[in-house]
Parts: sequence; structure tokens; C-alpha cells
Amino acid sequence: MKKHILPVLVILTLALLSCRAVIPATRLLPTATIVATRQAPATPTALATAIASPLGTVVVATQSPMPGADGLGDEHYPKMGNGGYDAIHYTLELTVDVANNKISGAVTLEAQAKQALSAFNLDLHGLKVSAVTVNAASANFSRQDDELIITPPQSILNEEKFTVVIQYSGTPQPVSDAAFASEQVGWYGDTGVYVFSEPSGAMGWYPVNNHPLDKATYTFRITAPKQYQVAANGLLKSEDINGTMRTSVWEESYPMASYLATLIIGKYKLVSESGPNGLPIRNYFPLNAGGDITGGFNRTSEMISYYSQVFGPYPFDVYGAAVVPMQGGIALEDQTLSIFSDDATDELTVAHELSHQWFGDSISLKSWKDIWLNEGFATYAEALWVEHTKGKAAGDEYMRGIYNDAKKHNMAAPGNPAVGNTFSGFVYERGACALYALRLKLGDEVFFKVLQDYYARYQYSNASTDDFIAVAETTSGQNLKDFLNDWLFSAKVPALP
Ligand code: ARG
Ligand code: ZN
Repeated sequence: MKKHILPVLVILTLALLSCRAVIPATRLLPTATIVATRQAPATPTALATAIASPLGTVVVATQSPMPGADGLGDEHYPKMGNGGYDAIHYTLELTVDVANNKISGAVTLEAQAKQALSAFNLDLHGLKVSAVTVNAASANFSRQDDELIITPPQSILNEEKFTVVIQYSGTPQPVSDAAFASEQVGWYGDTGVYVFSEPSGAMGWYPVNNHPLDKATYTFRITAPKQYQVAANGLLKSEDINGTMRTSVWEESYPMASYLATLIIGKYKLVSESGPNGLPIRNYFPLNAGGDITGGFNRTSEMISYYSQVFGPYPFDVYGAAVVPMQGGIALEDQTLSIFSDDATDELTVAHELSHQWFGDSISLKSWKDIWLNEGFATYAEALWVEHTKGKAAGDEYMRGIYNDAKKHNMAAPGNPAVGNTFSGFVYERGACALYALRLKLGDEVFFKVLQDYYARYQYSNASTDDFIAVAETTSGQNLKDFLNDWLFSAKVPALP
């Protein structure tokens, strides 16, 4: 029946057009009438129908279903993410064979179309897809590089909410990422399981709209041998033992960028505490971890209080850390559950990852080239923690040290690094210097108001460098474009104000 809506609407439009004498022409003559309808796959001529009428030619644009784009236009990662829909919620239902590093299960994606869709993509690297349904109807799918292309039996209306279920299995493969020369990202399954995805690794373990522009909430329903602990982002909702297996359900109820989705499976010592206003804090440490590993986390609760006071309320309903069997002095600010290699658990790294919950997680990037909005802010947050705990002089000394380093090494501008430099030291250090310089220019009161206004404006959302500069200008009432452009984009390290 729905197939006949279009002709009927065209006839109605023509009928309306012919009674223009009684209705004001401005109301009668829309240049385009958007008609949302299910219909046969798009043909170019179906996009717009030119109708001759007594008033001249009127174009009736019918929104014919088209395939969603295979990327979101990120300059550094053109194929990350996909167009045409908005991911709302992911349910990852996975059984993990830890001994053999294999997963099997299904991802259910609830999404909303942003155009009429004849087909759409998810990003998925490796793994074997066995079946896909859209709104419970079996759908065709194909694979091309890291794109999973899904063609539902019936096209999807613009703005329609739809549900996709992808059955899949296999051994998650590490993802090579343009940000790193040799490191890989995503799922690590050789010694237990942990996930370290920034920027592109999420597609290595689940089909996803893999760009921070499309944040979504998550349910993780993970079944693993019961001798292991399982943790993921958010709050633990239930644990059920069935024979030798345990199913744990974790719920992340705040919008999250895909690279921040994480999972740990292994033998851990769980240390829980109650943070500010009863905020649950759960840390997962290696079983035999001593003070050298756990010491850096002793002041987590205090840090949450401090940053909440400086930036604005802590964005989520839980926090904690996992120290995983990874080396390399790296850590990642996974939403509500930061991940640390066991040689990167010092107090300042703990502060750095925590501060990302505000800048990086709650406020996500619009594009990866703006990475200084994450790393420059988190590096400056280290200096703030030093200032808070050791005094103003110590905080200044921390930043002067970074600034002198940037000058001495003629560090490149942090505002638009090549993709291979996404996580280069200069992004962190000169990025932090830009904020330090802004504070010296504006004075404490205005500077912290800028941080708070920026956070309040973009929390749970996405921001760009221009968005930050705009807030800084509005809040301070000053023209800051030249000043911040100098700090963020000029080759030469500027002099401190
Ligand atoms: N965002 C992380 C940080 O807080 C950096 C992640 C770098 N990734 C990597 N695979 N080394 O600094
Ligand atoms: Zn960082």
C-alpha cells in the first residue's frame, strides 16, 4: 500500500497548485515538497519531479532512498563513521572464549535515519558476519575493506527509528591506525582481554558508526568463564552464573564515542570506594599489585572533587581505572573506566586520564585534527593538579618546564597536526601552553570562567577549536583569534604574555 503514496501525493500537489486563485501564492508555491515515503530504490530521475503547471514549472523533490555515505568527512579519517543515520544505542551481546581469543554473538544497534536510506554502512574490521536483520527482516550485506554495507529489504524512511542486529564471530584483529607507525589499536586478547581503541580500534571488535561525531549509549552483555572478572564502561547491572560461565551486564547510560568503549576480562583485584557525593569508584588492579602500581590512584576521589569544582560537575555516574597487562607507558581515558599500562600509573597520569572525562569524553571532538582539545587540556589539567596539591609556584614551574621544552625543541604548532602526529608530544605540550598563555592573558577569574562556560556549553556533545575560541571570546569579551591562532597554528612558539 505504501508504494502508492507517492503518486497520490503528486496528484494532491497538482490539485493544490490548480486552486491557486483562492490561496495566497506564497503558501501555494513551495519550491520543494519533501515527501517521505517508502518506494522503489532510487533512480536519479526520481529525486526531483518537474511538474508543469499554469504557474510555470514547479519542482517536487521527493526524497528517494539513497545509500548513506561511507564516511563522515573527517580530514584525517575519511572512512571513519558513516552518514545517513544517527546511532542511538548499542547492545553488545558477546560470549568470549578467553583461552582461544574468540568472540561470538550479536550487536543490536538502535538508530534513527537522517535521510531516506536504501542502504547504510557500519565500520567493521575483520571478524565474520553471519546474518544481519533490519527491523527483524533479514537484510543483505557485503564487506568492503572496513565497511559493512547493509541493504535492508525495505528502504528506511527519513527520521525513521530502526533496529539492526548483526550476528558475528571470530578472533578480533588488531587495527592499524594512521596515527601510529607501528602500534595497533583495538582488542587485545592474548593475556586475558582488554580494549585500547583510540582513535579507530572500536571497529576491530564490534560493528559501529566509528566516529566521535556519532555518540551513543551502550549495554554490554558479556558471557565469559566464571573464573574471570569482567568490566566495561558504566555501571554493573547484573551478574549471573550458568555452569562454568558468568554473564555480566554493564550499562553506559551517557552518550559515548566509540573509541572509549572498553572491556576487560581477567583476574583482577577489585578495589571499590565511594567518591564525592557517593559517586562509585571501582578500580581493577593486577592481583599482586603493590603500592608502586596502586599508589597513583589513592587521591582519585579528591581529584574528582577538585576538577568538578574547576571545570563543572563530574559528567558520569561512576568512575574508576583498570591496570591491564600492557606495557609501553600508555593510558587511555575510556569513559568511566580509564585503562593504564602497569608502567603508567603515576599520580599525574591518573589526573590526566581523569580530566579527559570532562575534556575528550563528555566533550568529544568534532574532528580528529582538533586533538589538542583533548590532549592539551588534559596536560594542562596535570599542571592544575600540581598547583592544587603543591601550590601556585609549583604549578607555574610545571608549565614553565613544558614551555621551555617546547621552545628549546622548536615544537610544531598543535592546532592541526598531520595524522601521524595525532599523539605527538607537541600536541600535548604546546596545546597545554596555549591554555597556560590564555590564563596569563585573561587572569585567573576570566580564564576559569572560560573553561567552565566551554564545558557547560559542549558537555555530552562535540566541539571544535573554533567553538572553543568562540566561547573564550564571548566569556572574556576580548578578541582572541589572533592570540590563540598564534599559539595553536603558528610554526614559532610564541612568547608567554
Ligand atoms: N588519549 C591517550 C592519552 O591520554 C593517548 C592514547 C594514545 N594511544 C596509543 N595507542 N598510544 O594520552
Ligand atoms: Zn591524554
